[in-house]
Amino acid sequence: MSRNYYMAGNWKMHMTRSAAAQLAQEMVNQLRDGKHKYLVAPSFTLLETVSAVIEGSNIRLGAQNCAPEEQGAHTGEVSVLQLKDLGVQTIILGHSERRHNYKEDDALINKKVKLALKHGFEVILCIGELLEEREAGKVEEVCERQTVKGLEGVTDLSNVVIAYEPVWAIGTGKTATPQDAEAVHAFVRKVIARLYSEDAASKIIIQYGGSVKPENAAELMAMQNIDGALVGGASLKTESFVPIAKFS
Ligand code: PGA
Repeated sequence: MSRNYYMAGNWKMHMTRSAAAQLAQEMVNQLRDGKHKYLVAPSFTLLETVSAVIEGSNIRLGAQNCAPEEQGAHTGEVSVLQLKDLGVQTIILGHSERRHNYKEDDALINKKVKLALKHGFEVILCIGELLEEREAGKVEEVCERQTVKGLEGVTDLSNVVIAYEPVWAIGTGKTATPQDAEAVHAFVRKVIARLYSEDAASKIIIQYGGSVKPENAAELMAMQNIDGALVGGASLKTESFVPIAKFS
């Protein structure tokens, strides 16, 4: 059976407009014949520039966060209404850098997830354990909690993607082995089956993230329950993102 893979680039807090426009244009050119679903998620300040470059291409526009409220007195925050206005289609929520460096908890992430879905966005909900949680045998407990709480009150999963990103593998060069990642993906799919249905569980896309590189993309994607990748560092250069995005 051919799979629908979803290959996403999280540009994090990198680049200014001219570099972003150039990178986006190279991605458009080189992914034109790509067979999978693609996304780039630049910083807020780059969204308009990148949106203009990727318009009409097979690459979706993503944001890396949003405010938990629609609008109002929220200094420094960016609203879903403002993101929609710029053509954003997908919002990454619950990234480990938001959870751990900016202290976002499951309740806040859940509020954002529900708001984004209400406004018609696709949501990539990131989950994943810290190294000490893995060493304490708490991988399943953490991933289950983040999944259940992140999706509390969400009844329809058709616009939800989950990204399993073990925190110890993000930006460290350490990747989970395909077998370790697969075990967590299979577990999360079971959680979704229990919470929703077997049908919802079989359809939901579960991406892997954490030091995905051209050298390991194919072996990760070969796993039964890994449906794509959320790529950080390697998404900042076409030389590394394109081979990942077109893995074979
Ligand atoms: P990385 O980041 O590919 O640089 O490890 C992944 C992510 O944070 O989404």
